[in-house]
Amino acid sequence: MTARKVIIDTDPGQDDAVALLLALASPEEITVLGITCVAGNVPLSLTQRNARIICEVAGRPDVAVFAGRDAPLCRPLVTAEEVHGKTGLDGPDLFEPTMPLQAQNGVDFIIETLRREPAGSVTLCPLGPLSNIAAAFQAAPDIVERVQEIVLMGGAYFEVGNVTPAAEFNIYVDPEAADIVLKSGAEITMMPLDVTHKALTTRPRIEALRNLNTSVGHFTAEMLDFFERFDIEKYGSDGGPLHDPCVIAYLIQPNLFSGRRINVEIETQSELTLGMTVADWWGVTNRSPNVLFIGDLNADGFFTLITDRLAQL
Ligand code: BDR
Ligand code: CA
Repeated sequence: MTARKVIIDTDPGQDDAVALLLALASPEEITVLGITCVAGNVPLSLTQRNARIICEVAGRPDVAVFAGRDAPLCRPLVTAEEVHGKTGLDGPDLFEPTMPLQAQNGVDFIIETLRREPAGSVTLCPLGPLSNIAAAFQAAPDIVERVQEIVLMGGAYFEVGNVTPAAEFNIYVDPEAADIVLKSGAEITMMPLDVTHKALTTRPRIEALRNLNTSVGHFTAEMLDFFERFDIEKYGSDGGPLHDPCVIAYLIQPNLFSGRRINVEIETQSELTLGMTVADWWGVTNRSPNVLFIGDLNADGFFTLITDRLAQL
């Protein structure tokens, strides 16, 4: 298997952080061409810092980290400090990263990379609001057909919403961007709440990471100790949903996941249901499928993969 070239577009976030660690721990399957940061869980000044902290925790200060958009395409930013803490990465003791932030804007990096690499050889992995990806597609429509695949975390059908009763956070923050991406014609795989709410950070799963007895294992367990408290209180669940690592795990071991090719459209008008992913799971319209919408995963296999790979760092 040759490693798949990816750009990870992210707003760390503890679950984004685990996704980054999983990708950096899996060089046989994944080559990280760059990490582009976006405003989302916390403002851009923090997400770009957090991405660099995670690269340093992984022992990979050589990875290129870029700052992209500091706001959605046409709305004020909504953040999620109540979930992720003031820093976005609350839990472990944080340090000031010393690796540089790249001078180039993240949106320009996405455009330039897709134009430079052979067509169909770069996968985009958005783990936050889709502002950077949509801005790149708007500025350079020629890159859309050069994308191999977009594997993203966002949306919900059976779980409906987490930030409003009708919408999932990443889509809600920038629904116009999500609309542009979903209508782009690119090959898209979506990890909605329907699957990520089955990937729970139970106590034994967090303890398995802590028991790696490495700095990465401790750092990760401390992030997840903090991260899970919000959803446990909200849902009364056994742990927090580890959303974003589903994207990276899918690239490494797609057989852990199952879903359906369906049509998904984004609500951009209604105040009540803004950012809703209207997913035709039951095939009740004749709208053409534009997405592989994942619905289920092997949760034990998923956490075993994460623990085994993070042990390599
Ligand atoms: C998504 O929103 C963020 O809070 C998480 O990092 C994840 O990407 C889940 O709705
Ligand atoms: Ca995220």
